[in-house]
Amino acid sequence: MLDQVKQLEEEALAALEAVEHSEALSEWNRRYLSKKGTLTQMLHSVGQLSKEDRPAFGQAANKVKVALEAAYEARAEALRRSEMTRELESGAVDVTLPGRPVGPGHLHITTQTLRQIYAIFAEMGFQVYESPDVETDEMNFGLLNMPPHHPARDMWDTFWISDQVLLRTHTSPGQIRVMRERHPDPIRVILPGKCYRYEQITARSEHQFYQVEGLAVGHGIRMTDLIGTLTEFARRLYGPERRIRIRSSYFPFTEPSIEADMDCILCRGEGCRVCRHSGWLEICGAGMVHPVVLQNGGYNPEEWSGFAFGLGVERPAMLKYDIDDIRLFYGNDLRFLRQF
Ligand code: DAH
Repeated sequence: MLDQVKQLEEEALAALEAVEHSEALSEWNRRYLSKKGTLTQMLHSVGQLSKEDRPAFGQAANKVKVALEAAYEARAEALRRSEMTRELESGAVDVTLPGRPVGPGHLHITTQTLRQIYAIFAEMGFQVYESPDVETDEMNFGLLNMPPHHPARDMWDTFWISDQVLLRTHTSPGQIRVMRERHPDPIRVILPGKCYRYEQITARSEHQFYQVEGLAVGHGIRMTDLIGTLTEFARRLYGPERRIRIRSSYFPFTEPSIEADMDCILCRGEGCRVCRHSGWLEICGAGMVHPVVLQNGGYNPEEWSGFAFGLGVERPAMLKYDIDDIRLFYGNDLRFLRQF
């Protein structure tokens, strides 16, 4: 019986020596040390021995058990280490390899257009003034000469935050903000920013888009100053041969109000698909700041006058690059964005 124990120990240790990976190690453990393992079975058979033989056998078997357990632990630890080393080596990162290049990004086409517009107006002495996207009803409408229930409000349906707070439908409320901040100094600013309208999204209209508002307030400012400014702007953006046409219009915050068109940059006034065969492209709404608006901004209309205009930003870019769908601007499709 004692020989058997000895033999088992030798056999188990030899088998353990041959174990190369953790599954084989578990298998070894099951075979020798688990409840159904050979050694355990052997310990259970102690009852079959004579009383005198039992202690010696028990001692020997227990010693082997302790030895095998220790050997098992040692082997398990060694395997863990070598497996970890192997894993690290196989998945090793070669830090000397060049990295994967991240392509440089570039400015969005709208940002590029805005910056062109800023640069042109900067040369004409206009500062950039930023005003909030979330506005009060009063700023967006009331102080711009559209009291509650004024029918002109129907021109701009918007997203309401609450009864009195909304997403601005145009950059014009910035006129009031800048006047209240700057009065009684003269003003020459542009007010760029995003506007929001509750509209069906189509190839021609988005519910978010950019505008650049312009405002000049001073002594003796006249309609000819406005027309001169718009003409200069169109020529600097689209070429020195551009012509401007003025039509009368209506906006509650200007008096008189106009709309300015520019001769079509594609057909040069001949008539084509882009200008719908009229030869002209609309560039902005504009006018002389309404006396009520001047007053709301803190300027006495008896002494001060001013002009204002509101330009679209996406439209000029669409014309320039022949883009036929405004939805492409904010659809985040890199195939589109990378072209500009
Ligand atoms: N706020 C107008 C709109 O969004 C555009 C506009 C028209 C702005 C005339 C002006 C202006 O400053 O004088 O439709």
